[in-house]
Amino acid sequence: MKVHGKKIKLTELPTPLEYLPTLSKDLGVELYIKRDDMTSLAMGGNKIRKLEYLMQEAVDSGATMVVTAGGAQTNHGRQTAGAAAKLGLKCAIVCIDNYPGEISANILLDRIMGADVILQAPNGDPDQQEKVIKQVIEKYEAKGEKVYFIPVGGSNDTGLLGYYECACELDEQAKEAGIPEATVVSAVGSIGTYMGLFCGLKNEGSHLKLQGIAISDFGENKEKRLMEYFESSKAHYGFDFNAKPEDFHIETGYVRGGYNLPNADVRKAIYKMARAEGIILDPCYTGKAFAGLLDMLSEGKVKKGSTIIFLHSGGQPGINTPHHRVEFERELADGVIVL
Ligand SMILES: Cc1ncc(COP(=O)(O)O)c(C=O)c1O
Repeated sequence: MKVHGKKIKLTELPTPLEYLPTLSKDLGVELYIKRDDMTSLAMGGNKIRKLEYLMQEAVDSGATMVVTAGGAQTNHGRQTAGAAAKLGLKCAIVCIDNYPGEISANILLDRIMGADVILQAPNGDPDQQEKVIKQVIEKYEAKGEKVYFIPVGGSNDTGLLGYYECACELDEQAKEAGIPEATVVSAVGSIGTYMGLFCGLKNEGSHLKLQGIAISDFGENKEKRLMEYFESSKAHYGFDFNAKPEDFHIETGYVRGGYNLPNADVRKAIYKMARAEGIILDPCYTGKAFAGLLDMLSEGKVKKGSTIIFLHSGGQPGINTPHHRVEFERELADGVIVL
């Protein structure tokens, strides 16, 4: 690894890289899966890698508490709650979302791990989240806490190192498995996972390619957001390469209505993976990314015979969030045979 940072160990690494024989045959590609859902803290997922670096910074700053933010089903919030619990820090999660009051599966887990959750419905103010975060931090500081703030998704220069490191791990595992050329496919939300992989693969000279699949609208400023994140991390770590907007490969056409909305194609993709390989994807990120990959295959954007490494970034508790669970039950209840 050419770029280093201090980190607190929160999980066993490396996570497994597994070959998926049944789906490979079915889809006409060589399909591997990187099991980052198997990071071992708080039911796992991609944020644990970022949190290893972020929590180190929190502890070094003398923090007694971490505050973060996300949607009401934030997996990042759950994993932050787990990391905070493990390290003896307090944790609060700010959720600005359309369904305040819904106890999502993740919020339940946050509470089980002792984190506070602050919910507010969006009010149209573009600065709402920032304002609520500020109020919340002030409230805890007035009670004597020293707060370390972690941005949405842990996606900043520090968090980027988690997936820079994963890129190095993947490159090594691909070499060990004798995989000459492959494309890593990842869900894209707050961009940190994609950007960490992008920087890691490029800066380390890996042959692996990278394809992102957006799970929510990027808005109009996709290129600006990507370039700003890249330039910030390049300045921070001194990468020895440059990037242009066209170097970032992120499909934005498979958002299927918006962030975390129930979707029949996504559920079909979840069933396909589960029934062929016994691996459970989630309805917000990995199921949507896998549905996107299936579309890319049928549209010829991903070539038959190519090698794909699908990043399983976790998120499975989301299946039990009420607005998803009700749809799964509707489709699956007929196979529950009551005698
Ligand atoms: C399960 C899962 N996969 C993928 C992502 C996307 O990662 P990022 O926000 O770094 O783009 C997230 C983010 O919350 C997630 O929870």
